Amino acid sequence: MEWNEILVPAWRGEANTDIAEIMRLSETEGVISFAGGFPGADMFRLPEVSEVGARILAENGAAALQYGPTAGFSALREYLADRMRARFGVAISPAEVTITSGALQGLDLICRVLLEPGDVVISEAPSYVGALQTIIAYGARVEEIPTDEEGMQVDLLAERLAALSTSARRPKFIYTVPTFQNPSGATLSSARRRLLVDLAAAYGVPLVEDSAYAELRFAGSEVPTLKSLDKSGAVLFLGTFSKILSPGLRLGWVVAPETFTAKLIAVKQTSDQCSSSLSQLLALECGRRGIIERQVKASCALLKERAAAMSAGLKRHFPAGTHWVEPQGGFFTWVTLPDAPGLDTARLLKQAVAEEKVAYVAGRSFYAHGQGANQLRLSFSYPSPADIEEGTKRLGRFFQQALAAGA
Ligand SMILES: Cc1ncc(COP(=O)(O)O)c(C=O)c1O
Repeated sequence: MEWNEILVPAWRGEANTDIAEIMRLSETEGVISFAGGFPGADMFRLPEVSEVGARILAENGAAALQYGPTAGFSALREYLADRMRARFGVAISPAEVTITSGALQGLDLICRVLLEPGDVVISEAPSYVGALQTIIAYGARVEEIPTDEEGMQVDLLAERLAALSTSARRPKFIYTVPTFQNPSGATLSSARRRLLVDLAAAYGVPLVEDSAYAELRFAGSEVPTLKSLDKSGAVLFLGTFSKILSPGLRLGWVVAPETFTAKLIAVKQTSDQCSSSLSQLLALECGRRGIIERQVKASCALLKERAAAMSAGLKRHFPAGTHWVEPQGGFFTWVTLPDAPGLDTARLLKQAVAEEKVAYVAGRSFYAHGQGANQLRLSFSYPSPADIEEGTKRLGRFFQQALAAGA
């Protein structure tokens, strides 16, 4: 069977396995992994969650084990509308909320509704590997806007939008992770947020706000969500329980205008019909009982410690001339090594795992067009401070040697 001949163009050639590789590395015995964007195992509130789970099965077991509505349980949509108001200053109705099987499915549904092969999507660069892979899988072309320590350089976006608006390549949407970005850790400044939302409205281009880490602030002060600044209905908001409760539940949500929500629900019917009923009931009850709020608070304290350990380790062990952004929240530190000919963090990854038993994600995964050879993402959310010290020591030594050997 000649499979390659019948595949759609986006899936011909080598499949991108970056995410699967991150998952695999994170499971390898004895390796200190800075690879996965995983909550620390000590962040889960297992005794409280098990009690809630047992109660749901005892009292509402038939619903928990049954299919549910495609849009998600009404009670959960109502809870999320209330939470969006309380937490993010966003006034929405439950009818604007679609429950999804993770934020990534939310993005996938948006892509299915909006994208045809050859379409243009704008994203900050670097950007979340899962989002890039999803967008590219629909045959779309990613136009990248560079970032700095304040996130996407929105003045450059303005120029790009102006240029694209006079061509036939009007972008279908802009994708951004404005707060504690994956991978850079950077947070978009308030001034840039206002400008970004105004640009989306002025050019009539939807703005997908991925808020995966937005609640996990351990330093600095709050910034408004893009959705809370949105007067024109251009912002599609992606939320997830993955980083505030559990990624194993595979549960997220999309907030969108009702007419667009109807389309998302229609495509979700043909994707998985509905998200897990058990997960939805569990997340709802954990929210109602304050378990999520307690987890967020405790996670922020742990993340603060781990980010400090990461920063100290980088200072102590990494080659002179290494640069990184100090995050104010979230899971990630983005590292730029001194630029040296031949240095390629993607090529060196296997060797780092084999020789030093330490894993990271290579910079190249976070760009649509192959940049990032001297960059890497280090996740500090999962390892203990002691492992972060040991891991940065091993990795620092490894890159010192690679640079000395001419990489
Ligand atoms: C920026 C960003 N968006 C979305 C996701 C995926 O979230 P979910 O587990 O809800 O699909 C991740 C997970 O790492 C992420 O980093």
